[in-house]
Amino acid sequence: MRTETGQTFRLSDYRPTPYAIPETRLDFRLAPERTIVHARLTIERRPGTEPGTPLLLDGDELKLISLAINGIPAGNNSYRATPDLLEIRDVPSAERFTLDIVTEINPTTNRQLSGLYRSSDVYCTQCEAEGFRRITYYYDRPDVLSVYTVRLEADRLAAPILLSNGNPVEHGEVDSARHYAIWHDPHPKPSYLFALVAGSLGVVKDHFTTRSGRLVDLAIHVEHGKEGRALYAMDALKRSMAWDEKRFGREYDLDVFNIVAVSDFNMGAMENKGLNIFNDKYVLADPETATDTDYAGIEAVIAHEYFHNWTGNRITCRDWFQLCLKEGLTVYRDHEFSADQRSRPVKRIAEVKILKSQQFPEDAGPLAHPVRPREYREINNFYTATVYEKGSEVVRMIHTIIGPELFRKGMDLYFERHDGEAATIEDFIKVFADVSGKDFSQFALWYDQAGTPKLEADFAYDEKAQTYSITLKQSLALTPGQPHKKPMLIPIAFGLIGPDGKDMVPSAVTGGEVHDGVIYLQRESETFTFHGLAARPVPSLLRGFSAPVNLVASLSTSEQIFLALNDSDPVARWQALNMIFTQVLTEGARHLRLGKDMQIDDHVLEIAGRIAADTTLDPAFRALCLSLPSENDIAREIGENVDPDAILAARDRLMAAIAARYADDFAALYQSLTQQGPFSPDAQSAGRRSLRNILLDYLSRHAMSPDRAAHQFATANNMTDRFAALSVLVQRFGGSHEARNALATFEQRFGEDGLVMDKWFSVQAMQPGPEVLAAIKALTRHPAFSLDNPNRVRSLIGTFSANNPTGFNRVDGAAYEFLADTVLAIDPENPQLAARLLTAMRSWRSLENQRREKAKAALQRIAAMQKLSTDLRDIVERTLA
Ligand code: PHE
Ligand code: ZN
Repeated sequence: MRTETGQTFRLSDYRPTPYAIPETRLDFRLAPERTIVHARLTIERRPGTEPGTPLLLDGDELKLISLAINGIPAGNNSYRATPDLLEIRDVPSAERFTLDIVTEINPTTNRQLSGLYRSSDVYCTQCEAEGFRRITYYYDRPDVLSVYTVRLEADRLAAPILLSNGNPVEHGEVDSARHYAIWHDPHPKPSYLFALVAGSLGVVKDHFTTRSGRLVDLAIHVEHGKEGRALYAMDALKRSMAWDEKRFGREYDLDVFNIVAVSDFNMGAMENKGLNIFNDKYVLADPETATDTDYAGIEAVIAHEYFHNWTGNRITCRDWFQLCLKEGLTVYRDHEFSADQRSRPVKRIAEVKILKSQQFPEDAGPLAHPVRPREYREINNFYTATVYEKGSEVVRMIHTIIGPELFRKGMDLYFERHDGEAATIEDFIKVFADVSGKDFSQFALWYDQAGTPKLEADFAYDEKAQTYSITLKQSLALTPGQPHKKPMLIPIAFGLIGPDGKDMVPSAVTGGEVHDGVIYLQRESETFTFHGLAARPVPSLLRGFSAPVNLVASLSTSEQIFLALNDSDPVARWQALNMIFTQVLTEGARHLRLGKDMQIDDHVLEIAGRIAADTTLDPAFRALCLSLPSENDIAREIGENVDPDAILAARDRLMAAIAARYADDFAALYQSLTQQGPFSPDAQSAGRRSLRNILLDYLSRHAMSPDRAAHQFATANNMTDRFAALSVLVQRFGGSHEARNALATFEQRFGEDGLVMDKWFSVQAMQPGPEVLAAIKALTRHPAFSLDNPNRVRSLIGTFSANNPTGFNRVDGAAYEFLADTVLAIDPENPQLAARLLTAMRSWRSLENQRREKAKAALQRIAAMQKLSTDLRDIVERTLA
């Protein structure tokens, strides 16, 4: 475990290194417990560096075996080596010299899953952000680009497959037991993109011919016997490659592209040059084991990692403060890809839901930080929804502001100007300023100011003057380290809908900048007046969710209902509906908490029924409309003094009321959506399944019987329907004979497959109510569970603490103590996982008093520990601050 230094890294401290490393040669003698790494680095003094300036290289838990400078063993006094530092004091005065560094590492005991480790006997690496320094001493930072040649040597039987970045050069026998392979990557890259894999794996092969005629060999390596489950990933890869050529003009640049799936991985996947390494969750799928959500996730992550080849690899980040330069942009690219492959509005609504449920609470709590942070203690803790999702929204706003043509021009310029460089957010913004001639200085605040802007909208119609005015006011709450905020540029796509449901066209606009259906709010408050409107319009604001803001519009319920039924933009329709439901639910929770009754207006029920029945609408869209705001969404909306039990009760009542009103219609619709023909994961079929499965939930609530779900569970021919039925059984009828039966059947069939068992764990982790904690604790002793495996931990304990508000927020605080115990147990093994798990408590301050005190006590117990990783220390201290 990395020792705490308490050090804070600041953007303003950035300095280039005094030396460059133009060439890196690595030789790995792979062995389970004693792997020897021989690094030969060509070092070059940068212009401006004084000859003799000491050379300081990063390390982490390293053991130096030997060091030579220009081929001559270094004398004891000429350097200093500790596990986390190599300082060369006697640096040759020549401009260029070589270092031969030999280190010894133990891949088997490396349970942090950073550096070189073993997952199910396969050697693999994870170097982002600072894992390379766990392999050899190096300038382990993204602005040092080097050309790598890698030789790997391993036992032939244990590791028939030997992979690294770039193109294969040579392979052969070492002796009767061992073999080797040499790889060369012609593209200079930072150390975080280095990778190797060695092991015995099954493979799926294919190929792709790029637009300019390069034939690329594609391979996906998975656990033996699982090759069939990699075919969808391969298909997604080929579609990604074609799409990036078409949409962004970006071609692949090596002769091979390898993907390896491993079962122990801290994140989703990693974009190592030419050798992506994946969490197997984002590779393996077939109808029997994967849900439609899994398929969509695989498509998105395969695309994301592939797209990094240009946005991240060819152009990388100057420093880790610029992380959103590659991540926000690449998320934007994978969102666009999925939108083109599937239904654009449905995809957009799904993105908005994720943004609101993951990023908005981050922005509203103690872990809030700018899209581009200015300081950090542990970079691992900044792979956040803010950097990724809000970072993508910022790119989307640039697209909105300058339009598709100039956006593409800007991207072309970005690739042309910065290819082969380590760039900054300033570089990125500048290309769009240059191609558009626009001033982006105010816009750049989106990268620097944390928090979700609140956007208040008021409306006034002047019948005589035939004008309609929209007054917009923005405000941004203070966030850690940022007490003062400036007004930002907010692009608000909008429409003014006339009584006939069509957009009205005003004769003129005064009061501010408005063009192409977008209002540009620049000051704290502005009034935009639209002229020549013969009737009072209903305003549709934030179409397509054009900015990541919290919109509070003073609309009547009937206006909101009008929008939900008439807006030409499906995203805005969904937003209107979501707002209606949210109001009913927040009010309802408040009333229930006071022991009063919950009011549900008949119109609210009707609109749900109307949308469900509207066959002109995409089933996937109807399903999104029918899925009410989650308990967490409602809690976020309430904001303070939150009582999770009242929220769940309110949500249950609304669902029951809708179900009661439309029981017959929903039953008929459910029946009509029964799958015809064989399973297909395409968006249309998935949409029908999602509508059918949400209807199942409503119907089961109304019938107060598990029968329909039990029947669906027993007859399902795919995991989507099976898992949906299991969820209804466990979450609505937990403890029933039917629920227990289904869980047993599932376990019997999939008990050997950890990835599928994740679903079994998470469905139980979601069972509402305080009693579930005992079951969760028991499940940690299940043979398929392991605290060592991040997927298992996240599916059981992560799901429980982040997505089961009534189970986790027990009034007695026992679940907080359980999470604290778990986090402390994991921390010495895998600090990244421990820290990530604890972020589930980031909203503790908004809980009602009793729970808040218990949560605080659990957090303080962690903070009081003597020995914590930098990762966990950082999260717990910021959460408490
Ligand atoms: N760079 C990876 C991605 O977004 C995420 C990652 C970060 C993976 C750190 C591993 C470690 O695609
Ligand atoms: Zn990424």
